[in-house]
Amino acid sequence: MPSSRLAIFLLSTYGEGDPSDNAAQFWDWLKTSSTQPSSLASLRYAVFGLGNSSYRHYNEVAKRVAAALEKGGADRFFDTGYADDAKGTTEEDFARWKDGLFACLQQKLNLTRRDVGYESAITVTFDESMDLIDLYRGEPVPAHAASGKGPFETPTRPVQIKHCEQLFQSGPRNCLHMDLDLTPYPELVYKTGDHLAVSLINPEQEVNGLLRALGREAMAQTPLTIQSRDPATKIALPTPTTLRALFQYYLEICSAVPRETVRALIEFAPTPDAKQYLAELSRDQDTFARFQRHTYLTFSRLLLLATGGDSQATWTALPLEFLLENIPRCRARYYSIASSSILSPRTASITALVSNTPLEGPAGGSIPGVTTNYLLALAQSVGQAPLPGSLRADLDFDVSGPAGCLEGAKVFAHIRRSTFKLPALAKTPLLMAAAGTGIAPFRAFIAERARLQSLGREVGDMILFFGCRHPDEDYLYRRELEEMQRSLGGKLRVVPAFSRAEGAGIPKAYVQDKIRAHRDDVLGLIEADATFYVCGKTSMAKDIGELVSEMVEPGGGGEWVRKMKKMNKWQEDVWG
Ligand code: 2AM
Repeated sequence: MPSSRLAIFLLSTYGEGDPSDNAAQFWDWLKTSSTQPSSLASLRYAVFGLGNSSYRHYNEVAKRVAAALEKGGADRFFDTGYADDAKGTTEEDFARWKDGLFACLQQKLNLTRRDVGYESAITVTFDESMDLIDLYRGEPVPAHAASGKGPFETPTRPVQIKHCEQLFQSGPRNCLHMDLDLTPYPELVYKTGDHLAVSLINPEQEVNGLLRALGREAMAQTPLTIQSRDPATKIALPTPTTLRALFQYYLEICSAVPRETVRALIEFAPTPDAKQYLAELSRDQDTFARFQRHTYLTFSRLLLLATGGDSQATWTALPLEFLLENIPRCRARYYSIASSSILSPRTASITALVSNTPLEGPAGGSIPGVTTNYLLALAQSVGQAPLPGSLRADLDFDVSGPAGCLEGAKVFAHIRRSTFKLPALAKTPLLMAAAGTGIAPFRAFIAERARLQSLGREVGDMILFFGCRHPDEDYLYRRELEEMQRSLGGKLRVVPAFSRAEGAGIPKAYVQDKIRAHRDDVLGLIEADATFYVCGKTSMAKDIGELVSEMVEPGGGGEWVRKMKKMNKWQEDVWG
């Protein structure tokens, strides 16, 4: 009997081979129930996995789900596909798999493809009569499905920036230290090692550019509601609201537009030239990828480029539903908290590098980091950090927030719990490795240990390996570290690695090189039961893991570090 049901699984894999929150229950069930052969015989399935090949457990969830379905006798309808974020090809990998799946659906199920163009799953309705009081105008969405928060996150509150300073500025790189006042919000509790999430506000230039390109400026503040065509499906956006609020606070309008979306935009282009422009741009993967590396391709820029900047050729035929369905929801940006919850329970500090990604090609330019530039603009608004001219020219933010509720240098922020935690015993030795702003949680760890020692507690030996470019440029918190070293009286050793100080006669070194050079000290502390912490880029953590594992167990293939992770003796706080 042919299988009567078809199930399509889209599954992402995180960290140590873990599923996303919404797949966790299914994952647990799958692991605990032993699928009997032939119990799933009436099911046909297709699986697509989203993962990153720089992780050991690459697409583990998708692979294991596919294997379990196979074992249960389900019939594989279409080959399992994988997206690899390490190559930056997730969108393209999915598009290719989806095209294949659709062709297979046509062929195997004898379906004919209706070329109906875009069909929305939602409707947007403007309603002038609605009470403005009821609208979402930028305030955080309460804790329901639309907030997108996991179980370990506090509510979002407008938090005051108490103090801000520039840690360094060098060319376009700029690093800020900010202290945020949690005092008015007892629900915002943090523990050393947790993360502070800052909600994004989009730059005015992008918001206005998009409204202009769409020819919707006049309706920007008109109340609107968003409804799902299928009553069983929840809307993942706040409603009722306004178009300006959606663009300013709730949608990632500064994210890069994927090629699939460019292709889908063709049918709505206002002129034949614009249609042709989009068709050529999206024709092949390589051309598109090259164009993106040369151009900062947000929605507003794309729409404007396609019409050659013609202000008469507005995109009035582009349904708002299309935009709301194709622009991702705003994600909060997470910063490792740089303060200790023991020393300052009601103040959370963050260390933010204002980053601009340089563009390739003769025109030069760069993609400004949205949130960090926002923080910089905030700091500037309270006169606490000079803003380099090049940054100010590019991005301009309405830092006063909805109805001015962020006035006085506030940001919408919340706390996310992490598992990056000091050992229970103060006398456990610590090995810490960080590069750049990865120093943040270690500033807190060391301060906390210094405090314990000052209270007469015995604290374990600590070594901090810290990587930056140059001792006179980006050696973050140098003075503070030196002071803490003094107060800890020999318990803390700081080993810097400078990567761009050859001009000063210092050979180029990364943190990994210094760990290798201090092999005996590292092994000695591991022998004494040290916990190893790494904070910084994922690729650095991977290198350090392999290096130390090989130092402890030569030829062990990294098994040692995996064992340590399971025992919480190896902890990582990584990104990128
Ligand atoms: P680089 O930019 O000169 O290559 C903080 O950004 C420091 O981390 C810099 O010194 C930077 O060096 C270094 N860094 C960059 N990539 C790294 C990696 N994969 N491992 C270790 N350090 C790295």
